[in-house]
Amino acid sequence: MITLGIETSCDETAVAILRDGNEILANAIYSQVDLHVRYGGVVPEIASRDHLKKLPYLAEEALKDAGMGWSGINLVGVTYGPGLIGPLVVGVSYAKGLSVALNVPFVGVHHLAAHLFAHRLSHPDVLPPFLGLIVSGGHTELVVVRDWDDFQVIGTTRDDAAGEALDKLGRLVGLGYPAGPAIDSLARKGDPEAIPFPRPMLGEGFDMSFAGLKTAAVRWLKDHPHPRLNDLCASYLEAIVDVLVDKAIRAARIYELEKIVVVGGVAANSRLREVFPERARERGMEVFFPPKELCTDNAAMVAACAHFLFAERGRRDPISLSPEASLPLDGWRRVPSAGDKGSRD
Ligand code: KG4
Ligand code: ZN
Repeated sequence: MITLGIETSCDETAVAILRDGNEILANAIYSQVDLHVRYGGVVPEIASRDHLKKLPYLAEEALKDAGMGWSGINLVGVTYGPGLIGPLVVGVSYAKGLSVALNVPFVGVHHLAAHLFAHRLSHPDVLPPFLGLIVSGGHTELVVVRDWDDFQVIGTTRDDAAGEALDKLGRLVGLGYPAGPAIDSLARKGDPEAIPFPRPMLGEGFDMSFAGLKTAAVRWLKDHPHPRLNDLCASYLEAIVDVLVDKAIRAARIYELEKIVVVGGVAANSRLREVFPERARERGMEVFFPPKELCTDNAAMVAACAHFLFAERGRRDPISLSPEASLPLDGWRRVPSAGDKGSRD
């Protein structure tokens, strides 16, 4: 069974081809970052137009990498939310077109569920239940994953996502966009204890808040106009890592879960990958990260999720499926609801 996955929810255009839901035959990604860098963030209209332009080429590239033609595809999976509505419309329309043209089923995928499927691709033997921590540019979610289609969001950010907080520091000190990778490497040469940044909402429930951290950095920079960037990045990153690790470990303890799975762009961060497993081990828990290339947005995770839904849950979506900019993960696809009745045609 060959699945073609499509991802266009933000600023990565991606097409992947998977055999039997777990073997990656192609994983083509085109990042639009150069188009958005001068604006310091993603411009939705520019993103939509560029997805439209690049998607057909990426699909051809993926087919070439996989060594097959269009006739080899048995299923099309696509992210239909959450994300920027224009970019989502491009991906979903393209997927519907392929499904009709190739006469194969198509399945809409939740972007955050797809991030969790990056773990299924990299650790097929490490099964739910586990605690999922999804940390990206747009999301910071603590999720109890009881099964591959049974998600309960127990904590989220009240304001900025963890990646967004890093990107905002990057904008403040001129590190470009997205700033996560640059902060990652600068922080490795800095002292994480140099500046005592706050640990917002530490010890209070499972929700998080990172907007105050940027304000603290603005204030600190006013008093220190010529900062040592290495120390600034290391200290700022450490505050985020501390909060993420503390919240996740406490949640896993309370929900009696021994495994924690970290996914999303920020899961590529080397400090998080270093600190988290150590602190979890002290409490008898194990932490899993996908390889870095599967942490950031990609279509292999989308194809893996679509294959699961089709092959193990008998799902296929009607051609009327609409993209949704805000699509909750809680309960997504667990129980078919009245509004969902078209999904099993
Ligand atoms: O999952 P992703 O590729 O896209 C979204 O769905 O948002 O995540 C992008 C985010 C950006 O905020 C970026 O700065 C951050 O992930 N990021 C990192 C690293 N690589 C990407 N943050 C910290 N360290 C990294 N190595
Ligand atoms: Zn993402």
